[in-house]
Parts: sequence; structure tokens; C-alpha cells
Amino acid sequence: MPIRSSVYAACAVVVAALVVGAAAPVAAAPPDPADPGGPAVSGTAAPVAAASPEASRPGGPSGAVGAPGVGDPFFPLAGNGGIDVQDYNLKLAYDPATDRLEGTATLRIVATQDLRRFDLDLREFTLGTVTVDGVAATFTRDGQELQITPRRTLRKGASFTVVVPYSGVAKPVTDPDDSIEGFVPTGDGAFVVNEPQGSPGWYPANDTPRDKATYTIAMTVPAGLTAVGNGALVSQTAAGGRTTFTWRERFPMAPYLTTITIGKFVVTTGRAGGIPTYVAVDPSQAAASAPVLRKLPEMVAFLQDLYGPYPFETVGAIVDDAPDVGYALETQTKPAFDRAPDDATLLHELSHQWYGDAVTLRQWPDIWLHEGFATWSEWIWAERHGGQTAAQRFADLAATPASDDDFWNPPPGDPGEAANLFAGSVYDRGAMTLQALREKIGDRAFFTVMRRWYAEHKYGNVSTPEFVALAQQVSRQDLGAFFKAWLYTPGKPAFLADDGAAVASARLAASEGGGRRR
Ligand code: TRP
Ligand code: ZN
Repeated sequence: MPIRSSVYAACAVVVAALVVGAAAPVAAAPPDPADPGGPAVSGTAAPVAAASPEASRPGGPSGAVGAPGVGDPFFPLAGNGGIDVQDYNLKLAYDPATDRLEGTATLRIVATQDLRRFDLDLREFTLGTVTVDGVAATFTRDGQELQITPRRTLRKGASFTVVVPYSGVAKPVTDPDDSIEGFVPTGDGAFVVNEPQGSPGWYPANDTPRDKATYTIAMTVPAGLTAVGNGALVSQTAAGGRTTFTWRERFPMAPYLTTITIGKFVVTTGRAGGIPTYVAVDPSQAAASAPVLRKLPEMVAFLQDLYGPYPFETVGAIVDDAPDVGYALETQTKPAFDRAPDDATLLHELSHQWYGDAVTLRQWPDIWLHEGFATWSEWIWAERHGGQTAAQRFADLAATPASDDDFWNPPPGDPGEAANLFAGSVYDRGAMTLQALREKIGDRAFFTVMRRWYAEHKYGNVSTPEFVALAQQVSRQDLGAFFKAWLYTPGKPAFLADDGAAVASARLAASEGGGRRR
């Protein structure tokens, strides 16, 4: 749902549903109607020129061909022009014995331009008959682009339904940094995480964080296994030696935050404050994760106090044994962990529900708006729970010598290339940027900035210049040079002293040498 007005329309539906439904109305607060939205940049970015000569011919039928991407600097073919997905309904079945995934995806879409043809993103798989509004459409495949030509041109503003039946062996997607994601087979099922581009590895998507939508995911698995998805468990039914789990996320969700992780899990349900919880743990990780997961309600309460009301209807966690993946992810409403997390990792992924999942970047190079915020959240949790203060943490890191190139680079606001998306500097120097801001403008202004950033952009998309503008507005300071130094200038900021470095960095290496992967 890239267009702000449609986000509001969808949320109105969500709120209405919550009011009449039986679910706890905890997260029912509608988006603030006073939300000014993103200033200059509209939800739909300038599309990348369509690849085919026909599509780009001026004055030709080009105006009616949806672009193959939305112009992300790191992933130019991710997402598609001309479409705004409202809702995904995925009916899937997975057999861990063969890794075969099969099912049907039904997408309700609004055309944002006249469309003679449009794309979805999908890798691999064999397709059945694709239909648009019940009528067979023709399609072609070109890399991750599934190009669909409906029988008749779709008019701008029209709402239409696309059905894509598909089957095949689900294969993980490998990223520029060599990490894997998507549908990743495990010993007993599959670990499913998609940041930044795994979704098209298991369903046809408009794979851009700008197009949030609601999701129903039904997954049928062999009896004894559990399929864990985002949002609320709508039903769990057994038939013919298989179990179908149907999950519904009624809040806007970016495709990269979806999951339907499958395995043998011990499930615990409960409440965090008034919010229903669903926690699924691989038995091999149960002992190690129990003392950490016990803190989940306290962490949610802490983050609500700090940043504002939890944005979604349900909360929880998925703790799997997925050694091939090697990182955790903030999948919406249920962060997914490749192994038992420690306190800091659980807090990190929960804080992403505010910064990342509810308030989501518009372009991938702005990833520090997620990772810097989640890392700083770890610091403030420690500060308020008898650990190191954020100021101490900052001071220790600030003593890292300028010669430590990998610590200071790339500058977090300009990671340069997709392979640097999750560089250490995006996390640590990103968090240092926030702590430096806190020390510059004071706690009162700083927490106002953090809370307003969340309240004003919840369920929407953001960019770094908007954050800078808000910080300047709240603090009434010109912060241009400050953010330029922290976010965009390579190397150690010149104003930080470069002494005592060896000692501090040795201490740091000793304390973080395990290389926790987040
Ligand atoms: N899990 C990371 C976090 O929550 C983000 C992430 C996604 C990641 N894919 C990755 C990190 C690959 C390292 C490698 O912050
Ligand atoms: Zn993170």
C-alpha cells in the first residue's frame, strides 16, 4: 500500500475489525490523522524505466506497462511500478521430506496507473494458470520478474484480484553479502526470513518495503509440525495426516517481514500486558532460551513506555535451530531467531517492531533507521537495567582508533552498496549517532524526537532527511553539520579525540569478540 491515503483506508478497516472482533483492542489505535506524512517524497517513487524497448518508447503503450522496479538504489528490480497491493492470501503446503512448496497466492491490488501489463516479483517455481479477476492472463518470466498481461487493460484506480498457482522446490536467496534468506530448509522444516529480498523466493510479491499490505497465510504441513506466521492464529485444523495453520496479520506489513516458519516447536501462549503472545521454540533451544523469553513481556512494556504503544495486535517469538542462517530477524509480531537469543538480541528484535516494522525505510540505503535504532535500544535497556549506560557504551566505542577502518566505515547513512547493508558501522555508528544526538539536544528533546518519529510514521515509510528535519524542529537547533559528520562522512568523525584508543578497543574486542549476529 504505497499510497498514504490507502494506508489510512486500510487501517480504518483494521480498526473497525478490531472493534467488532473478539481480539484484544490493545493495538487498535488508528494512525494519527494529523500525520503530515512524508514531505516531498510520495509513496510511489519514480519507477525504473521498463526494460523492454517497447515499454520505454515515449508516446507508445509504455504508459500502460508497470515498471519492473521502484528504483531502490540497492535492489533496482525489487518491487514494481503501477501496483499497490492491499492484501495477500497465501494457501500453501510444504513437505520437508522433499522441500516442495505448492500453493496459490491471491493478491488484491489497486492499479496506480493504466496497466496493459504489470510485474510481480517471483523466483523459481512452476506456474499454473494465472488469472486476473477470474480471467486467464498470459505471463512471461524474466529473472525475478513475473510479467502478467491481463486480457484487458486495467484502468488507473481499479481494484483487481490476481491468482497465481505455483509449485516447486523452495530455494533460499543469496544476498550480495553472501547471507541467505527466504525459505531456508532446517532439520525439521524451514526457517523463513526475507530481509531484504527473500519473499520472492516463496511467494509472488510486490517486494518493496513501501508496499505494505495485510496478509493471510495458510500453511499445511505433516502432522507433528507447526507452521508459525505473523499476527494471530485464526485456525489450526487436522486432516489426512496433515495440519493446516492459518495466520492473519491485520496490520500493514512489508513483504520482507513475513514468515511462515515450520518445524517441531513447543508453543506457549500468554499475554504481555494486554497483548496476546505466541512463542514457538525448537526443543533443542528450549533450555537456553527460557530465561530470556521470560523477559519478553517486561521488554515490551519497557519499549512501550519509551517509544509509545506497541504497534500490532499480537507479539511473540520463534526460536528455531537454523545454523545455516546465522542471524535473527524482526519478522512482524514474531521475531525469528536462528538459535536461543540472549537478552540484547531479543530486545533488539522487539525494538524493531517500532523502528523497522511499524516505521519502515523507503529505500534500503536508509537501513541505519532500523539498525541504529535497534542497537541504541539495546543500550538504553542495559542503562535502565543495571548495565552499562548508553553514554559509557558510546565513550568506549568513540575511543576506537580512526585507523580501525571497518569500525567507522561505511558511514551509516550512506552504506554505498547492498553488500554493506548490515555492516557493523550501520549498527554501532548508527547507534552512536542517536546517543550523540541525545547528548547534544538533551534527554527531553531526544525522547520527544523518538516518540514523535514513531507516532507520526507508524505503518508508513520514512527517509533520513525526514528524521533530521524532525530532530531540528524539536530541538530548534541546526543539526545539518552534526548529521553530516555522523551519518555521511567516511572515517572517524574529526571532532572525536583519537587517544586512549588501543585500550578501549581491546576491551571492546574482548566483550564483543563472540561476534553476535543480529
Ligand atoms: N538480523 C539483522 C537484525 O535484526 C538483520 C539482518 C538481515 C542481517 N539479514 C542479515 C544481518 C544478514 C546480518 C546478515 O538486525
Ligand atoms: Zn536489527
